[in-house]
Amino acid sequence: MNSKVKKSFWQLYAWVYDAVLLRFLPYRELIAHVTSALDAREGWAILDAGCGTGNFIYHIIQACPGVKAVGVDFAAAMLSRAMLKIRKAAPVSINSVIFREADLNLPLPFTDEEFAGAICVNVLYAVDDPKFLLGEIYRVLQKNGRLILVTPPVQPQIWPIVRAHACRLKEASPSGWIFTLAGQVVRLIPLLTVFLLINIFIKSRQSFHFFNREELSLLVKNCGFEVVSIVPVYGGQDWLVEAKKQHSGLL
Ligand SMILES: C[S@@+](CC[C@H](N)C(=O)[O-])C[C@H]1O[C@@H](n2cnc3c(N)ncnc32)[C@H](O)[C@@H]1O
Repeated sequence: MNSKVKKSFWQLYAWVYDAVLLRFLPYRELIAHVTSALDAREGWAILDAGCGTGNFIYHIIQACPGVKAVGVDFAAAMLSRAMLKIRKAAPVSINSVIFREADLNLPLPFTDEEFAGAICVNVLYAVDDPKFLLGEIYRVLQKNGRLILVTPPVQPQIWPIVRAHACRLKEASPSGWIFTLAGQVVRLIPLLTVFLLINIFIKSRQSFHFFNREELSLLVKNCGFEVVSIVPVYGGQDWLVEAKKQHSGLL
């Protein structure tokens, strides 16, 4: 798949992304989990590599209004949704969030050690060379800078996430959850169909990169990071890696 086709694929995904995912309770939990793992402090500059529709940046600036966040993505349709969302969060965000259209397969358009923290959520699998992207994130992080990386395991499945969503609904409403779920499915059938087809496509792509825990740990370490922890999240369909830049200087 050439770069133009890849971009079109993500532009299409932007159309259904928030409408489906923001209704998914495991995705909302993932946003909260990443925000708390990052533990951003006032004054930090944060990079969101592959920010999509800006859901993570939106949450981070609410949790810590003193941060400055930069979201990078190559899909204009994702970025326009992200900008709209952040504008609605004004005045907190208006001067503290920047979005840049850039290809993560190329060097990041930032100088060395510009960021105190970085997140990269469900993006690593899609780039041409995961090691190159992680190396670039390492370069732009300050010494002791934190990386929160979220990426799917080998053979990711959609159904465990749906199951986790149903469980959360059940916990919240033991008698009414089935009606809530059925209502969501009926209302969202066209969007869900597109969403499922996109995810089946992602899963089937030989050129995408999925890692088991050991491979992921080795990859992150080989890029110079100290791996603090790796835990399964998102109904077991993502790894959440907490890592730290060990030393300054390029590898
Ligand atoms: C599954 S979405 C994740 C978005 C966001 N991080 C989230 O979790 O909600 C993957 C994102 O990576 C972006 N992406 C994929 N390949 C990219 C590349 N080579 N350069 C820049 N962005 C890329 C897509 O446009 C898309 O927004």
